[in-house]
Amino acid sequence: MAKQRDNWGSRLGIILAVAGSAIGLGNFLRFPAKAASNGGGAFIIPYLIAFFFLGIPLMWIEWTLGRYGGGFGHGTAPGIFHNIWRKNRFIKYFGVIGIFGPLVIFIYYTFIESWLLGYSFFALSGKYTAITDQTVMQNFLRGYQGVQNNEFFNGPGWAYVFFLVTFVLNVGVIYYGIKGGIERLCKLAMPLLCVCGIILLIRVLTLGTPDPAKPDWNINNGFGFLWNPDFSALKSAKVWLEATGQIFFTLSLGIGVILTYASYLKKGDDVVLSGLTAASTNEMAEIILGGSIVIPAAFVFFGPVAIESIAKSGTFNLGFVTMPLVLNKLPWAQAFAFIWFFLLFLAGITSSVSLAQPAVAFLEDEFDISRRKAVAIFGAATFLLCQPGIFFLKNGVVDELDFWGGTVFLVIFGTIEVILFAWVFGMNNAWDEIHKGADMRIPRAYKFIIKYITPLFLFIILGAWFLQEWIPVIAMRNVSAADRPYVLGTRIGLLALFSGIAALVKIAWRKKENRRQCRQESARSN
Ligand code: ALA
Repeated sequence: MAKQRDNWGSRLGIILAVAGSAIGLGNFLRFPAKAASNGGGAFIIPYLIAFFFLGIPLMWIEWTLGRYGGGFGHGTAPGIFHNIWRKNRFIKYFGVIGIFGPLVIFIYYTFIESWLLGYSFFALSGKYTAITDQTVMQNFLRGYQGVQNNEFFNGPGWAYVFFLVTFVLNVGVIYYGIKGGIERLCKLAMPLLCVCGIILLIRVLTLGTPDPAKPDWNINNGFGFLWNPDFSALKSAKVWLEATGQIFFTLSLGIGVILTYASYLKKGDDVVLSGLTAASTNEMAEIILGGSIVIPAAFVFFGPVAIESIAKSGTFNLGFVTMPLVLNKLPWAQAFAFIWFFLLFLAGITSSVSLAQPAVAFLEDEFDISRRKAVAIFGAATFLLCQPGIFFLKNGVVDELDFWGGTVFLVIFGTIEVILFAWVFGMNNAWDEIHKGADMRIPRAYKFIIKYITPLFLFIILGAWFLQEWIPVIAMRNVSAADRPYVLGTRIGLLALFSGIAALVKIAWRKKENRRQCRQESARSN
């Protein structure tokens, strides 16, 4: 008899869990950095086009495919794809991406998340409160990461301690399951995250003009810098690619996590309104909170010239260097720095547990083992897999993992999903399936969008990427000679991981087939 699968306790629970998965570092750091360096307010045009033609359709597709697969006892892509296209023996291997992708992101995301816990702790202890200089703050970060020894840290000791705590917290949440672990965490963390975000928003909005000698360095101009549109940016293909990539990343699409979360829904549970609510919650956190904190605040203290390079300095610099420097200039610096890093930590952990769940669900569903056993295997394997990212961070291992797991495979996986859904399952079946138990009807135009526009959009993105980037990426043209062995090692490791998961899929299916044949034989002999 099939094992009873876990379930969500409430509708609010799954909406908060999906929103929790979506709201992460991407909202507070990646989005403002991308917007500021890709046309400011004009960035919002390709961003919204990608949201309506790609984000929303894929969100509905993943919720629907997940709920459909859950009905057959499958919570991950190999089983779900197999049920959509039973005649195709190979389709389940395309589903491997839906376990591989989140696993790869998990193994570096938890490490970065642990820095946030570390920085929250050091905010309270005041370890970096006195730092007012950019280079010294940068140095603090590099010392913490173990990338260089300095006056603050010798070696990666503290970073490792916080990594262990973060890792155990993640595995602990997964251990308690969907309702008892993930749902409970998100019900607690999401309101807390909202409160932290609103406190910081109010603080930034009330910054005014802190230095009367520099009247232009004020909060209105800070918002102006981020949001005044530069329409000429829209002529650049790169801006469109960046906006599309941001939609994938921020909504946690193409990763496989929404498939797994939705597989724990019941057959008649609504996916239309719930999916839309989760996506809209993410967009509010991204545009209103993410777009109002770091960049406008940095403008006020660093001015219109320096902000240009700050905006382009990357996600980590914005979060771990610029923002603490800004907060250090304010009264109650320690408290505000703690709120900032704790907000990011909450955003991080609600995302990382979602990244862990597909692999655990795969082991539980396809090998019929208990959650306890699945979590133990997952914990042991990912603990080992996390180590190269920790010890070879400076050699580009994390960047490489992010490139494949967090960028390329998302778009490939999203494309496979939409083709399977609209073209193999068929748009009429798909439309009926989406609307089972739905609280509202989707505008009919989306039938056309999902069938034609979304796949076309994805093909164009993939094609453009392929033409522009494929050769330099394969040839490692942007990698220094010293880092090439590490990057190559990471690629070989990723290939081995992918092949390992594909082998597990093969074994699981063979076992199921054997069991099915045994059952048939015993039925015949009775
Ligand atoms: N969606 C998650 C984020 O934005 C991964 O960080």
